[in-house]
Amino acid sequence: MNSIPTPHIEVKEQGVIAETVLMPGDPLRAKFIAETFLENPVKFNNVRNMFGYTGTYKGKKISVMGSGMGMPSIGIYSYELYNSYGVQNIIRIGSCGAYTDQLDLYDVILASDCWSESSYAKVQSGYDKDVIEATAELNERIIKAAAELEIPLKEGRIHSSDVFYREKFEEFEGIRDEHGCMAVEMESFALFANAKILGKNAACLLTVSDSLVSGEATTSEERQLAFTKMMEIALEMA
Ligand code: HPA
Repeated sequence: MNSIPTPHIEVKEQGVIAETVLMPGDPLRAKFIAETFLENPVKFNNVRNMFGYTGTYKGKKISVMGSGMGMPSIGIYSYELYNSYGVQNIIRIGSCGAYTDQLDLYDVILASDCWSESSYAKVQSGYDKDVIEATAELNERIIKAAAELEIPLKEGRIHSSDVFYREKFEEFEGIRDEHGCMAVEMESFALFANAKILGKNAACLLTVSDSLVSGEATTSEERQLAFTKMMEIALEMA
């Protein structure tokens, strides 16, 4: 393991961060999860306001930390957690835009794998394919936890995009049809690439926050509440 603290996480001792970390994009959502669901949450990171907390859930130690938006940001935080703090499992819990009318707002998605046009994995390690799988064992545990909680899950490929605002909005249809992606987000490809190269585990649970097909969207207040289903699944599997 590499020396600590790292440039972006100020924790000076091993054992402060749990083996399993839930990663929402928004650090304030990490705070909300810690304060709502964890017993005795203790904040371990303030650097750049990228808050991280460790507490217990049903007696098990677990951490939750923001990833920021986009592959460069989650690429930095997940690498430091895996490589310097001995983290084994990272479960991203985020939002996504639906690419098909088969998905409704608030549906919960489990990424089997992700397709991306990003150069992240190529630059990071020389990996030159455009699809990376989630860790099968984590996904199996997530599917089991969702079934126990009776929360429907839709499993499939997602698009991990480098761009939120495309000039040619309709291009998403080509990505959906050519690569079989049902929704879009902006982080999983870098997370899965880091897990793969470092021999760690990664998964990605998403809640549909908007639809590129219908134009429907949720407000930020609605999201805060609706996303609890996904958080419960992630906590239960951990
Ligand atoms: N595009 C990219 N990422 C997203 C979206 C989107 O429409 N919605 C939520 N995350």
